[in-house]
Amino acid sequence: MTDRQPGSIPTIVDCDPGIDDALALALVAASPEFDLHAVTTVCGNVTVDHSTRNAIRTLAACGRAEVPVCQGAARPLVRLNPPYPPIHGENGIGDVELPATAREASAEPALAAFERVLEPAVPGEVTVIALAPLTNIALLLSTRPDLADRIGLLAVMGATIDRGNVTPFAEFNTWADPEAAYRVLATNEVPTRLFTLAATRKAALDESQRLELAAWSPVGATIAEMILGYDDQVTGLGWPLHDAMVVAGLLEPGIVTLRPAAAIEVDTGTGRRRGATAVTWDGAPHQGGAPRPLEVAVDADSERFRGLLRERLSPLAGPPSD
Ligand code: BDR
Ligand code: CA
Repeated sequence: MTDRQPGSIPTIVDCDPGIDDALALALVAASPEFDLHAVTTVCGNVTVDHSTRNAIRTLAACGRAEVPVCQGAARPLVRLNPPYPPIHGENGIGDVELPATAREASAEPALAAFERVLEPAVPGEVTVIALAPLTNIALLLSTRPDLADRIGLLAVMGATIDRGNVTPFAEFNTWADPEAAYRVLATNEVPTRLFTLAATRKAALDESQRLELAAWSPVGATIAEMILGYDDQVTGLGWPLHDAMVVAGLLEPGIVTLRPAAAIEVDTGTGRRRGATAVTWDGAPHQGGAPRPLEVAVDADSERFRGLLRERLSPLAGPPSD
């Protein structure tokens, strides 16, 4: 496996951009700690066609058009969802029109991309960052369980330990495909770090912080414009850019408070608690990234998050002008 920089971690990002996914991609694209081998897409915030197009254009805007974007599942594993509001705008990125690029989605499907990266890897070598409904990851673990040991860390944005954001009980990614979430989170065969809403809500920017983001770089300005089309606000905090907290928490583990867990349960029933999660805790809270098979981010430091964003996004030039 070829590294972009010595010591960088072979990484796959699975996403559904999504304004916060776009910010997370920008953060990964700007961070040499990650050797980004593929971005895989899934239906979630928008259709998989939209999320694929958004991922391609976001990477191009960040100067990373060479990263293959590989399309995955077009629907959840088992049950279709009822219609839900387009909180990321009709096109998934706040109805901002990013410049079209000559690049298309890779002909390689998402699962083939996982196989390409995981097959030659040694056990524990690859980090998978999952920022969307867990459909692709569940399919991977079910179709190629032999590759699970190559994943050294599965970092997931999902679940809630207090209240939900799509229903009173459920977080969007677990709600959008609870059967997949059950497969991935409740059967803990891969070392997993779960970034719940309790931590990711702290990745919120208020209007003055959004304007700061806009001033940092052309990429910052583009994402700041997307945020204006983000129909979600956390009282007193601003627009929550959940997925970006996952990347920040990997780059600087001290940004989040991690708590070891013994198990996670996901409600796959059809009642009003569908997609709700319940964590069985294991031990006392601790700061930082002690190696454990299952850790849950329960809080985060907003100021440090914004500091990291500023450091990483400031050098990013922005969309090509063609
Ligand atoms: C998650 O749901 C999506 O709307 C966001 O992109 C994020 O992944 C937050 O609940
Ligand atoms: Ca997402």
